Amino acid sequence: MEDSSLVSQRVTGIGKSAIHEMTRLSQEVEDVAFLSWAKPTSDTPEHIKEGAIRAIADGLVGDYSPTSGVPALRRGIADKLKRDNRIDARDSQIIVTVGAIEGLAAAIMAVCDPGDEVILPSPTYSTHIRQVVMASGRPVLVPCIEEEGFSLDVDAMAEAVTPRTKAILYCSPSNPTGTVFGEDQLRRLAAVARDNNLVVITDEAYEYFVFDGNQHFSIASLPGMEERTISCFTFTKTYAMTGWRIGYLHANEEFVEQITKAHIPLAICAPTVSQYAALAALEGPQDCVVEFRDHYLATRNLMCERLDRMPSVFSYQKPGGSYLMFPRILVEEGRDSLSFCKRLLREARVSTTPGVAFGPSGEAHLRMSFCVPEQTINTAFDRLEVNFG
Ligand SMILES: Cc1ncc(COP(=O)(O)O)c(C=O)c1O
Repeated sequence: MEDSSLVSQRVTGIGKSAIHEMTRLSQEVEDVAFLSWAKPTSDTPEHIKEGAIRAIADGLVGDYSPTSGVPALRRGIADKLKRDNRIDARDSQIIVTVGAIEGLAAAIMAVCDPGDEVILPSPTYSTHIRQVVMASGRPVLVPCIEEEGFSLDVDAMAEAVTPRTKAILYCSPSNPTGTVFGEDQLRRLAAVARDNNLVVITDEAYEYFVFDGNQHFSIASLPGMEERTISCFTFTKTYAMTGWRIGYLHANEEFVEQITKAHIPLAICAPTVSQYAALAALEGPQDCVVEFRDHYLATRNLMCERLDRMPSVFSYQKPGGSYLMFPRILVEEGRDSLSFCKRLLREARVSTTPGVAFGPSGEAHLRMSFCVPEQTINTAFDRLEVNFG
């Protein structure tokens, strides 16, 4: 844009999304092995589509729903939160949102005043960083401990607290590292939040995709955390519904009243047809979630095996969850992850995401998605092996 005075510094200060940039570049290359996107490649299960079709036929979807969502869906979500997240949820504490993303945006808007600091572990999902900037907040990135599988450095997070700190925001299982933050760590983090009167905003998009005995833990289930936690969840990852744009958040009623004031100008309500699809997802058989999880476990293992064959090029921490991993690039050119990514695309026809997109401590890494068919992983690594032969 030639005249930048026509737009806000809020947006001009935000760089281009490396994920979308790599997608754009990948489209210019024929027959790419695509490991860039954090989205399920499976289609939405049939019974969920049928739930939406029934709601359309019954004339239920042409109108806005109540702002906070279709009552039956909120009831189903409250039951799910009690059962799977040990959160003592009531229907009145739920807002159905346009994916987890809109819930996060509304939550951050409701919590941050201009200049407020939000502590995030790093590397982290780049959208979280941008959402804080969009709310005129200041992201404060605290590096995770890579040698310990990118675990939270809770002591460093506590040291990062200043009088301007308003909130802590994290995702677990993590995008981009796949780390599942364990209950012990989250108990210590909760103490930091309580001691410093901070809000905790969570992104639990990958809650059902955990492996090797890791357990997903919701910090809002801890005593005293209900009053300061906004927990964001989604149907889009769990049920392969990314295009339906449907998620939800949980917080106490006082937060909900304030977050609703941000949710309405952002969305009015989540798409009504998608809310009925989500209801069918909650009420229907859950085998599809188990199948997705088993597939991601198999593809994670395959990706690790393939990385093991390239020890001079990559080292990695085995992800305990999500469908993403974040290998470190050991070769010299990898210090600049964006150029390295472009080189892999050009020379090997493999599309990955540069680690620098996830904060400065992500530099010299690549994010690779294993939510793809096994064949795609094999093709990608066959090409990488030839390239680094
Ligand atoms: C950690 C995380 N949160 C949220 C989202 C987006 O979720 P939704 O589709 O529900 O908005 C993504 C998508 O990649 C993600 O990785």
